[in-house]
Amino acid sequence: MLLMITSVMADVKRLLDAGVCFCYSCNSSARAGMILDPGGAYPAEAWLTIIPPTGKGWTGMPAVWIRFGDKRDYPIVVDPGVLAATGTLVKKRVQGKTACLVSHPRIHRLYGKIVEGSLRRSGMKILRILVPEGETTKTLGQVEGVIGQMLHARLDRASFIVALGGGVVGDLAGLAAAIYMRGIEFIQIPTTLLAQVDSSVGGKVGVNHAQGKNLIGAFLQPRLVITDPQVLKTLTARQLRSGLAEMIKAGIIADSGFFRQMEEHIQDIAALDMKWMSTAIARSCRIKGRIVEKDEREKGLRAILNYGHTFGHALEAYHQYRGYTHGEAVALGMAIAAHLALLLGLCKTETVSRQISLLRQAGLPVKGKREELNRIESLMKVDKKASEGKNKFVLTPHIGHARIVKQISSFSVHRVLKAVLGSA
Ligand SMILES: NC(=O)c1ccc[n+]([C@@H]2O[C@H](COP(=O)([O-])OP(=O)(O)OC[C@H]3O[C@@H](n4cnc5c(N)ncnc54)[C@H](O)[C@@H]3O)[C@@H](O)[C@H]2O)c1
Repeated sequence: MLLMITSVMADVKRLLDAGVCFCYSCNSSARAGMILDPGGAYPAEAWLTIIPPTGKGWTGMPAVWIRFGDKRDYPIVVDPGVLAATGTLVKKRVQGKTACLVSHPRIHRLYGKIVEGSLRRSGMKILRILVPEGETTKTLGQVEGVIGQMLHARLDRASFIVALGGGVVGDLAGLAAAIYMRGIEFIQIPTTLLAQVDSSVGGKVGVNHAQGKNLIGAFLQPRLVITDPQVLKTLTARQLRSGLAEMIKAGIIADSGFFRQMEEHIQDIAALDMKWMSTAIARSCRIKGRIVEKDEREKGLRAILNYGHTFGHALEAYHQYRGYTHGEAVALGMAIAAHLALLLGLCKTETVSRQISLLRQAGLPVKGKREELNRIESLMKVDKKASEGKNKFVLTPHIGHARIVKQISSFSVHRVLKAVLGSA
């Protein structure tokens, strides 16, 4: 028993450090359903019971709650190995008994059995729909295909969709859930780091149009997000780095303490040390969650999440989505944004050098490939977030803070593009 308590306390410390809210419970009568109180060290809102006791023995269920103050509130459960508890968790969050599992063949081969087995053991039926991999799958045609199979299987409004995959599956399956019979419940099981820290948080779902990325979509908050950091072990190093860029972004724009933690532990995180990776995922989700709670529909504050993205999107489009991963392009975009803030006198040199150094240590690009600057500049003007051809820039006066700046001369933008990207 003593050993168990010691081990739980070590986990508690880890989660306290992460600022994650959670409860621990076990089948032992002495401790069943116990909630560990942080003793006032953290804001009360961060400490909430999540999932009642489950399974046998100690069942740590750390979760970050996204709270809108209504029935859309949902937990993001972050725990290595949690995939095996999918059925138990899902049962607590949805009423229906039929799950439509949307995934890619490869991800299904890796993790489908464990997820489906767990759902079945919880008494659920499964309709499995596998879609091809890659960004080209994110189309209205694929959504229609998914919906067609659901109709064919006579799934009713009590059924729900479970997305098992990266951002592509999550966005596509989420849109299907948003419009199937005017909307059914949606559960995310993100399997890339980018999906775990970014696309599964915040409720944006959607697909691409021939004229641009993510132009067709909806807001649909999931009922539950099940995040298992163990699945990252089968991800390519490049995909992993792509997610690290979004984690670093979260620290830069809103949490200097997390940024410092990333500086200290970037090697542990990148090496998939489960303790540090789980902590960093949970904290990134919490940062994004707090922003989304304040501005779900991106009327203002949520735009700071686009730090580095105006430049990043243009770089992705310039290379026709083949030159850089999304995270690599965002990393380069953040390097450009950091230099822009310095040029405008908005930050100190140290603010820039810390960002560049952390991005470099994470193996992300901070120098371009001598892109054609005029092409990049015109691509920036057609960015979805540009208004009347004018870009808004998210800039960082110091680590942990971001602000939106509208009036920046094209001369200044050109200068930093040239400095960071070089010119063809
Ligand atoms: N909705 C949002 O708020 C939001 C935010 C950011 C990005 N996105 C979207 O996310 C998408 C990118 O997501 P992504 O980077 O996760 O790419 P992805 O979904 O295409 O996944 C990348 C590749 O990794 C494979 N994969 C996934 N998990 C794996 C695992 N555990 N082991 C081995 N291979 C695995 C996939 O099969 C795929 O080939 C883009 O379409 C982007 O627009 C959405």
